[in-house]
This record gives sequence, structure tokens and C-alpha cells, in this order.
Amino acid sequence: MNKVAVLSGDGIGPEVMAEALKVLDVIAKKYNHTFEFKEGYVGGIAYDKTGLPLPEETIQLCENSNAVLFGSVGGPKWENLPPEKQPERGALLPLRKHFNLFANLRPVKIFPSLSHASSLKQELVKDGIDIIFFRELTGGIYFGQPKKIAEDGKSAVDTMAYKEEEIKRIAVKAFEAARLRNKKVCSVDKANVLMTSILWRKIVTELHEKEYSDIELSHMFVDNAAMQLVRWPAQFDVILTENMFGDILSDEASMITGSIGMLSSASLRDDQFGMYEPSHGSAPDIAGKNIANPIATILSAAMMLRYSFDMDKEASAVEKAIQKVLKDGYRTVDIMSEGQKEVSCSMMGNLIVERL
Ligand code: IPM
Ligand code: MG
Repeated sequence: MNKVAVLSGDGIGPEVMAEALKVLDVIAKKYNHTFEFKEGYVGGIAYDKTGLPLPEETIQLCENSNAVLFGSVGGPKWENLPPEKQPERGALLPLRKHFNLFANLRPVKIFPSLSHASSLKQELVKDGIDIIFFRELTGGIYFGQPKKIAEDGKSAVDTMAYKEEEIKRIAVKAFEAARLRNKKVCSVDKANVLMTSILWRKIVTELHEKEYSDIELSHMFVDNAAMQLVRWPAQFDVILTENMFGDILSDEASMITGSIGMLSSASLRDDQFGMYEPSHGSAPDIAGKNIANPIATILSAAMMLRYSFDMDKEASAVEKAIQKVLKDGYRTVDIMSEGQKEVSCSMMGNLIVERL
């Protein structure tokens, strides 16, 4: 039995999740699988119902599942809560940490029929872009201690810390993935300034020499990487980087594809358990209007099939169905352009299901 914890969260989370579940239901029927979906509260809605953004029952639910499908959390309603009660800080980050989901995979791929939606000039993207980020997700400045505002409110500190083991395990994931792709890894750091980056570069280099010398490894400073991503994105294949650099660069890279509504992600550890979520947020301004783009969540569900359940052909079938819908000219409003057919969130889900 494939047990999935479904945490839809806030804003557009429930709408896009509903479409992903539709798609998974069809996959189950078509390929003869059983998925058991159990819903849990997370984020603002969890706070409203239980007083906590990540209630114990939700953690238990995830503990008892093989994978977690996550929608999105947060919204203006909860912005002024104390930090530990806020949806992002109080739910998303603790979930990642609790389940030791140290490897965040974020594929940035241009669908040929959407290349005009890119914010870059056509000549830079017309031959296709296929990058995957391996972002370290449970260390660095997000979690390092001390992390606090002084009692007098006049100073604050965050700590960026990394241990050899933390760097090594994410680097292994990136090198392994590169072996199945174009055998190229670009490791991004700030080794001209940060001690953690000097260590990062040393560990990655040693690992490369010892075990992955078949892979072409390059190093790039993060400021240069931010520039190179918009100057010539096709030079990248696998990008390996630490937590905060990966956060920033992956948002930047999403615009190469035209919409953050297309970007999926998987957060993994060393077994097959994983948490899968769209890279976009809860978009409270469009919540409840049935206009959100469900594709990022559906693609995340496809990643779940691939990484947690070894269902590679099922995952590919979902990805192909999405490509087909786009090729047929259907667009949600965020990727809409002249001459195409605008559809709602639920209609997009239906169209993908039809093509499965
Ligand atoms: C992301 C998000 C989160 C992060 C926020 C919501 C805490 O931006 O998943 O990229 O910074 O990791
Ligand atoms: Mg982010």
C-alpha cells in the first residue's frame, strides 16, 4: 500500500491539490495501484483549528505515510503571529527538519510550447533549458544556532553553519543524478567570503576526485551564478548549492520557464520517503477563484511516483499528458498568451486526466 499524507494547507493549496489527486486516482486505476490518501492540517488552517501551524497529529500522519504531498502555506491572515506560529517558519521548516529532508530537488525545464513565456529572450532559451537544482535543505543559515534578536531589540544574529557530513550527502545526490543526465555539476558557493563555502568547496572537490571523476565539476560564486542564469542558462545541468543560495537561485531560475506555476519540487532523504510540493506559495490574492495553475503540484505528484514509489513509467505518463495539454493550446491565466485557450484550475486538471 502506498500511503500518502495530503497536506493541502492555505490559499490556492487546496485547489491545486485537488487536481493532483484527480491525476493520481487515474494513475491508480490505469496502472493498477492503490494509493491511500489521508488529509492533515498544516499552516494557517492548522493554526486556526488547533492553535499550532504543525500539530502533532499531522506529524504522526506523515510518520505513518510513505510520502507527503504538500500544497502551500501562509497568507496575510497569519502574518502578524509570533514567528514560531507563522505557517512558513512554524510548519514548513520544522517538517523539513523533523523528517531530515536534506535534499531539495527543483527541476527547471522549459516546455517547448511555453518557451515564449520565458522572461528571457527567445535566442537564449529556444534550444531548451533543462536544469535541476540540488539544494541543501536542512542546514545552513536557515537552522544554525544562535539565531535570535537581542533582548534590547537592537541587534540580531543568524548563524550559517555546515558540517562535512551535511555537505557530502547532498553532493552525493547531485553527482548521482548527474550520472544519469549530462554528467555535469556546477557547485555554487561564496568561497571568496564565507568559511562554510571554503569547507563546501573542499568537500565537494575531494568527493569528486575520489568517487565521481567521470563527472565534469565546476565551481561558481553565487553572485556570478545569479548573473549566468540569466545570461546563458543553457550552460547549466545540475546545480549543487547550500540552503539559502538554492532558495534564491531557484526562484530566479523559475522565471526562465515563464511561470513559477510550473515548478515542482521534491524534498528527500536517504530512504524513499519524501515530501513533494510546488515551488510556488499560497497566492492568497487568487485563492478560491479556480484560476491557479495546478501543473507545479501535478508535476510534484509525478516526482512522488518516481522517487517514493519507483513508478517511473507512471511519472513519465503524467509529464507527457501535461506536455500534450500545453501543446494543444490550453493555458491557465499565468501562462496565457494570444491565440491560446484559457482554462480554469479544475479544467486544466480535467484536460490532463483526459490525456492519461
Ligand atoms: C521555498 C520557500 C521557503 C524557503 C519559505 C516559504 C520558508 O521560499 O521553499 O523556497 O525559504 O525555503
Ligand atoms: Mg523560496
